[in-house]
Amino acid sequence: MAYIKSAALEETGYVVLDQYNQELDPKEWLDIEYNDWKSSGDTRFAPLASAFGEIECNGFWNHKPPRTDKDGVFIDSQVEKAPNLTRRAQEPGANIGRCRVIELQPNTYADALYNLHQDDNNRLNPDGTGWVVRSFFNLTDDTDSYFVLRENRTDPSGETRIALPAGAQLVIDTQRLWHAAAHYGAEPRYCLITSWTSGPELDAYIEKYNGVGKVDSVEVPQEVLDAGQAEQSRRIAARAAALAARGQAEKAVLSEA
Ligand SMILES: [Fe+2]
Repeated sequence: MAYIKSAALEETGYVVLDQYNQELDPKEWLDIEYNDWKSSGDTRFAPLASAFGEIECNGFWNHKPPRTDKDGVFIDSQVEKAPNLTRRAQEPGANIGRCRVIELQPNTYADALYNLHQDDNNRLNPDGTGWVVRSFFNLTDDTDSYFVLRENRTDPSGETRIALPAGAQLVIDTQRLWHAAAHYGAEPRYCLITSWTSGPELDAYIEKYNGVGKVDSVEVPQEVLDAGQAEQSRRIAARAAALAARGQAEKAVLSEA
């Protein structure tokens, strides 16, 4: 047995879809209700779908009974305020688990490298069923920001940096790829993140919107890349030293977004 996965994601672990015309939609993400939920930087989250339809962001496996990241329950009060975001999350017809808008305060490339993490999307997911991946729909026009993707947390070779203008649409196997956003600007970045189950519905959606599995990286000066890499090494070493001083082992770095 093996999980059902998208062939489109096999080579690189991501696809970039056609850009959505975000200008046509109202800024629904400003109307919905947010929870403080720290993940990879200074963040808050506004769930549209959660384990039981409550405004909370916990992994479905932390609820009783614990379950995998599927069959999320949409939250009426949020859906009412964000019908377009809900429609976009539901458009493929793939099963949806967690679905929420992230609010991320400005940071740097070095911060993003330290924040790189893999998502825990497939805990308790039965073998033989669809592998859970995530879509990222950028809502704000973050023209100087980019998503950083790596196969290996500390190895810069093969790093991909994907631009984040309003309407950018990505589908990423975030349990495979280490990822985080470098967000330059004065205002928070907002992005709709949805857990989708792989299968024929998702494949058809990726094809409909011309998913591309390889894009040119956003250009960043080499000195910024080098300084970011050095800072990531410094912070990882500092954290390991702090944990060692307290007699704790380095814990697995897994995060929710
Ligand atoms: Fe994540």
